[in-house]
Amino acid sequence: MHEHEIHKHSYTRTLTHSYTPLMRILGIETSCDETAVAVVEDGRHVHSNVIASSMGDFERTGGVIPEEAARRQLECMQPVINRSLAEAACTMADIDAVAVTHAPGLLGSLLVGNVAARTLAWIHGKPLIGVHHTLGHLSSPWLGLEAGDDPAFPILTLSASGGHTDLWLRTSHMHGTLLGQTRDDAAGEAFDKGASLMGLPYPGGPAIARAAESGDPRAFTFPLPLAGDSSFDWSFSGLKTSLRYLLRDNPSAITRVPDLAASFEYAICRHLIDRVKRALETHPEVQELHLVGGVSANLRLRDMSKALGTVVRWPSKNAYCTDNGAMIAAAGYWMAKERPTVIGKSFETMTNARLELL
Ligand code: KG4
Ligand code: ZN
Repeated sequence: MHEHEIHKHSYTRTLTHSYTPLMRILGIETSCDETAVAVVEDGRHVHSNVIASSMGDFERTGGVIPEEAARRQLECMQPVINRSLAEAACTMADIDAVAVTHAPGLLGSLLVGNVAARTLAWIHGKPLIGVHHTLGHLSSPWLGLEAGDDPAFPILTLSASGGHTDLWLRTSHMHGTLLGQTRDDAAGEAFDKGASLMGLPYPGGPAIARAAESGDPRAFTFPLPLAGDSSFDWSFSGLKTSLRYLLRDNPSAITRVPDLAASFEYAICRHLIDRVKRALETHPEVQELHLVGGVSANLRLRDMSKALGTVVRWPSKNAYCTDNGAMIAAAGYWMAKERPTVIGKSFETMTNARLELL
């Protein structure tokens, strides 16, 4: 079959699947270097969350090489699915639906996950749900909660990862508006590029956070980007340039990596929090602030968010902050619950697509 036909293939026979409120969903996430598969019930109870990452292979290259990542994912896909089902002590017969990240991400990587999910759904007669990667991150704070502990909407969510930095104001899982976003680099990308300038390994976020532990965040001063700008947007590329100039004009600074790391980490977090603070002031109806995405694993960011005077929540495990299959299964559940027509609906695999909430 022609590749295009595979992407467009519609699962009309699953459209008749009746909706069950307690859905056990197998979630597949392969948008970047990871091959991640999880089994999650009702968007909260994680039965298994398995991840195979080829990140270690890319430490020396300072970034992911797309074709290599996809080749590794092709090898890992079936074993990771098998392990996820085994750890959840179930078979495909116990699964109510398959959810998969269909956008955005690296094409080869997304294709591996999408073809696997489509095939699984087809041969086992299960409905398939295409999930936007960001909606997965937005659903991650529910993982591990009991139904009675559900967060209250409206929720302001800062979603900060290596690929995006978004500020969402939501009145339900599927309803809300994008208040702000980055105009250039993502926050995680700023960590990654900063780490590379400091000679620290990739991915840069955890490396900078570790080095920063013994450093002084006030040792070096970085500007506050977009100061005085009335939007809720971010801009991180200037911080990276400031770091480059600092190292060029003051070469001995490279001997003080902990101070550099702490100051740079503080500068990124200050910019993130500055915009969140303004959004909270503008929207007093907000009940909770959520921090999600890889950058939400950052302890300084979490600490700084506690001073904002609102309930703050982040995913209950670091494994739910960075890319994982559980958040995709959870998003599939909330999508199906709020908008049952998404169950079995045809979707395309896309490298670029904005999350559309109503
Ligand atoms: O959400 P994620 O796993 O993948 C994307 O969707 O991009 O985020 C990965 C990003 C990387 O840029 C990484 O450096 C950053 O999250 N990150 C962190 C931390 N852990 C991961 N940034 C700051 N502090 C951390 N502890
Ligand atoms: Zn992500």
